Parts: sequence; structure tokens; C-alpha cells
Amino acid sequence: MRRLALLTSGGDAPGMNAAIRAVVRSGIAQGFEVVGVSDGYRGLVMEEFHPMGRRDVGGIIQLGGTRLGTTRYEPLKTSREGALKSLDRHNIAALIVIGGNGSQTGAQALHAEGAPVIGIASTIDNDLCGTDISIGATTAVDVALEAIDRLRVTASAMRRAFLVEVMGRHCGHLALMAGIAGGAEVVALPEESASPEQIAHGLCAAYDRGKSHAIGVISEGAKFDADALVSYFDAHHERLGFELRVTRLGHIQRGGSPGAFDRMLGTLLGVAAVDLAVARRFGFLVGMRDGRTASTPLAEVAGRTRPADLSLLKLAGMLAL
Ligand code: F6P
Repeated sequence: MRRLALLTSGGDAPGMNAAIRAVVRSGIAQGFEVVGVSDGYRGLVMEEFHPMGRRDVGGIIQLGGTRLGTTRYEPLKTSREGALKSLDRHNIAALIVIGGNGSQTGAQALHAEGAPVIGIASTIDNDLCGTDISIGATTAVDVALEAIDRLRVTASAMRRAFLVEVMGRHCGHLALMAGIAGGAEVVALPEESASPEQIAHGLCAAYDRGKSHAIGVISEGAKFDADALVSYFDAHHERLGFELRVTRLGHIQRGGSPGAFDRMLGTLLGVAAVDLAVARRFGFLVGMRDGRTASTPLAEVAGRTRPADLSLLKLAGMLAL
């Protein structure tokens, strides 16, 4: 029987478990023996393979995190020898890698050296090329929105300004979505960073327009992140004349239970990846484009990032008025 291996790699994302479940169950339905690899590429090199049956993935579709465990395994960047030997020794006919940028760059490096690899797009940052949306992104936005909605309540009650820093590494997608859907007065992104003075002006202007609160959503990768802005606002406190509080959401955003969209996305991408394995089409990333599952050569994905859509930033500014 042909053996299909599956791993999750990099930052965990809500919906990874839905993808694991879909790969295991559709893989078995397609006649594969499915083995899970523990802790990403580290487990691959250490040969930590575990047979997975349909019941092993029961009751996980609603869980965040990843049943398989995950790591950021730096040694793969310099040597693929251990991973290739492991795939060979365990007679792996196809390896499915669920992960984001670094993980798919690793997948492409393995593929270029002859490994039968297929990637599944998964990162809360939503910065992968080859897909419009990655597993975990919408749930992470929802977690940020819940926090913003709560912060607005206390901000209004005390007429304070709040800065909320969201994850996203070098991509502003999460901040942009959370800023628009959360009705923020100011949004700052890595792709187009506002100066501290512009951000201060945006917050002050909200009070001038009669608002009782002012919320700024700041991407962690913005040129002036929450720490930099706090120092600036502290130094200019008297002139600016408003009270500021800061909340950094950090990893809270990754730990949510996947919403409906991420459960469906994980499921559809998992099944599509197995279909590629059946067809022996390797070296592709499976994602979603124009509402349909789509595959893109890993060579076009590796080492690149997709920036946030800046036309939406203008929209956010207009709607905040
Ligand atoms: O890539 C996902 C992500 O959550 C980024 O948004 C963030 O910058 C990074 O991972 C944090 O990495 P770690 O979990 O290794 O601290």
C-alpha cells in the first residue's frame, strides 16, 4: 500500500486540525496508508512517524492548535539530507506539509531535491502567495475583533484612546481586516507605516469629531509598533491631551477555536492535497483562489510574501470619519 506522510510546521493556525482530519480520512479513502509526523520537520528528520487511522482524528475538527505538534526547524534551511533519507527509509510516496511561508519554502527545497511534496496553505498572517486566504487567518481576525469590541466598551466609558497590536509578522493583512471590521479610527501596517504624529492626529481627530473613544490597530511589523508609539505618546502627553492604553494581543490570536470558514477551508484543502497525491502531482501548494481550491507551483511561493491590499487601507480611513 502506498504510504502518505503528513506534518504541520511553523506557527500553528486554527483549522490545521480540520486539514489533518481531512488528509487522514480522504487519504485512507483513496487507498493510502497515512502516517503522521510529530513536530514538523524536526520529527521528519528524527523519524517520528505514527500510523493514523480514521478514529485518530475524531473530535479534533473544532480544536485550535495541531494534533501533530509543530516546530520552526531551522536546520532544514541548510541541509535536507536527514529529511530526504527519512522519507526514503520509510517508503513515503507523498509528503503533505501544512504550514506558512517558512514551511513552504522548506517544502520547495525538499521538492527541488527530489522529494514528493505537496503544501497546504496555513498561516494566520495570510501572506502566502498562491492563495487568497490561508487556514487560520479568519479565526485570528475574529479573535482580534472580540478584543477590539471589548476594548471599545471601556475606551468609551473612560474616553480613552487604545492601541491594539495584532500579529502578522511583515504582513498587515490581520491588522487591516481587524481595523476595518472593528471600526478602528487608525490602522498602521508594515506595508505603509504611519508616523507617530499621524497616528496621534488620527486619534485626536476622533475626539474632535465627537467620538467618545479612539482605537488604533497596529500591526506588529509596522515601522512604529506599539512600544515605539507608547514612548512617543508618553513624551508628548501634555500636547496630545488624551489618555492612552495599549493591548498587545500576541499569541492569543493563534489559540482560537477555528470558525466555520477555517474548518471548511482546512477540510477542502486537505482533500485537494490528497487528490494531487493520487495524481502524483508534486511540488504544488494547495490554496483557495477566486473561491475554488487551486494549486500553485511551490517554486512560485517559496521565499515570497503577499502584501496586504492597500486599497483597503484607504477604505478604512474613509469609513473611520
Ligand atoms: O507566522 C505566524 C506568527 O504568529 C506571526 O504572526 C508572528 O510574528 C509569529 O508567528 C510569532 O512566532 P512565534 O510563535 O515563533 O513567537
